[in-house]
Amino acid sequence: MKSARILNGVLCLVLVVLWSLLAFSRPDHARRNFRWIPQMEDPLAFETQRGFLPGAPRWAAGAKVAGTVARGFMPFTRELSNPFKPTPENLQRGAQVYAAQCFPCHGPGGIGDGPVTKRGVPAPPSLFGDKATAMTDGKMYHIITLGQNNMAAYASQIERDDRWRTILHVRALQADAKAAAAKAKEKAK
Ligand code: HEC
Repeated sequence: MKSARILNGVLCLVLVVLWSLLAFSRPDHARRNFRWIPQMEDPLAFETQRGFLPGAPRWAAGAKVAGTVARGFMPFTRELSNPFKPTPENLQRGAQVYAAQCFPCHGPGGIGDGPVTKRGVPAPPSLFGDKATAMTDGKMYHIITLGQNNMAAYASQIERDDRWRTILHVRALQADAKAAAAKAKEKAK
């Protein structure tokens, strides 16, 4: 009987101590709590692209080997050439993209008279100019992808393959313009 009373007393004391601890602790939500068994918080997963660390699982991706290219990504330089041939399907798709993305500024035929240029947007140079005619496909791809001065980058709006197909359409426009100019010259004679 006596031991039970002592036990009760001890339990009451523990309760009071715990309660007072709770009452005096002022939780600050801006600060991290005491970390208890932190292993539960830190993930064991291997971080990819960090190289093989001692003890890391061998199946985890290691650091990129020099010269490798991520899937779905193609590096480009100004020297790149168009991987697409001017087939009717590619030309049709190029014309479609041109009508949707380039036409507002560059105009239907490419001379730089798109509808927005009549509303205050600076008119782009003609795509039949010496510069655009002489530039490589790689350079044009570069301009569509990253933009140039007043022209914004179109990498996020136009898929990589469609950028190349659009260039096919621009080349077709240039060829048409060249043929029309030659015809006009012939007529003038
Ligand atoms: C919002 C208007 C706008 C749109 C849309 C646009 N461009 Fe341009 N583009 C310009 C302007 C302005 C320039 C001139 C930039 C400069 O001053 O160098 C330009 C320059 C260019 C040039 C270089 C011409 C040169 O002589 O330097 C090419 C090629 C070109 N654009 C192709 C395209 C193609 C292809 C598209 C569609 C995918 C497109 N642009 C969409 C405004 C636009």
